[in-house]
Amino acid sequence: MIYPPQILLPGPTPVPPSVDLAMQRAMSDHRGAVFTQVKDHVTNQLEALFQVGTQGGVAVIPTTGTGALEAAIQNFFNPGDHIIGVSTGAFGERFVAVAEKMGVVVRHIRVPYGQSFDPRHIVETVEEETDIKGILVTHNETSTGVLNPVGELARLLKTMPAHPVLIVDSISGVPSVPLTIEKDGVDVIIAASQKGFMCPPGLGILAVSARARELILKERPGRLFFDLQPYLAGQFPYTPAVSLWNGLEEALNLLEAEGVEPRLARHRLLSRMTRAFGAAAGMEPAVEPAIASPTVTALHVAQGFTPLDFKNQAAQLGLQIAGGMGPWHHEMVRIGHVGAVMPNQLLEGLATLAHLLPQGLDGVQASWNVWHEDIAVQKEAYRA
Ligand SMILES: Cc1ncc(COP(=O)(O)O)c(C=O)c1O
Repeated sequence: MIYPPQILLPGPTPVPPSVDLAMQRAMSDHRGAVFTQVKDHVTNQLEALFQVGTQGGVAVIPTTGTGALEAAIQNFFNPGDHIIGVSTGAFGERFVAVAEKMGVVVRHIRVPYGQSFDPRHIVETVEEETDIKGILVTHNETSTGVLNPVGELARLLKTMPAHPVLIVDSISGVPSVPLTIEKDGVDVIIAASQKGFMCPPGLGILAVSARARELILKERPGRLFFDLQPYLAGQFPYTPAVSLWNGLEEALNLLEAEGVEPRLARHRLLSRMTRAFGAAAGMEPAVEPAIASPTVTALHVAQGFTPLDFKNQAAQLGLQIAGGMGPWHHEMVRIGHVGAVMPNQLLEGLATLAHLLPQGLDGVQASWNVWHEDIAVQKEAYRA
């Protein structure tokens, strides 16, 4: 293929040209004036985005999402500590596995694929157990396309006299799905550069509440690189990924220009358009609309295909989508609509898939209708 393929993946996601350009800026001393300005700008923007409340609440580490999960475990728990880990799919299972590898004892609440967790059940489990130091949950489960009620869980936990630290994997959520430290009452939010932040993979981002900062272990066996304390203090004990920081600065400018509410509305629209396509094209959406993720949609693979065939044939037509994960490996494909994806670009990708499906054009029409109705509603709102 001569030209880059279109990607509708749940990560990595398309990188806007201006972010690419920013990453080509000349290399500079990470302790010099030019980079310090970038660092301060990015840090201030991230603190505002995550609403951490005070300064020193965001750490940006050169690692992937999984590295950031590992960093969270190493900073809050010692080997032998007891925690609750809730999984609603493959990435929740991964978070539990990371904690167990680090010697932490996990009471695993396993929710079937395709469902969201029940916050009350988690709170009841906290009440039943003694000595629970933390709770791990996934905000937006990328393997199933389920959005979990993290805000509700945080509100219930707040009503307890004391509650374990709540650590949320929002790697495919924030900033395309809202979640904040102050407003939602979450202790730690974990994100990564290659999803809604519209950058290449390589940066793990952790937002930490003032309460959680007090709980960070001063020393922990086996921890060096992932010690959050210097990062939160704005220091670089090791060379930062300068080019990725430059890209992130531009991506944050783009996010600011789009605005929080329009961006969230865009992802909700993309989710509805993808689901409408699937329902009309013979690829039923895998989860109920009430818990559907705004950033990734799992669809039953069309009759006559395995997910791998479907994905490979789409790739031959110039479109990259994702396969199913875990027990859904043989049943589902996943369409990502996170980060820099506009409705017309999604529609272009869906029109590509339509070549593979007898009812494909019905799917494209249904998806277009959803977009068209949305435009009409917006026009009406503008006039009013
Ligand atoms: C919810 C979630 N958690 C964790 C990860 C792992 O991130 P990485 O592949 O960057 O290590 C991903 C990546 O897709 C994810 O979507």
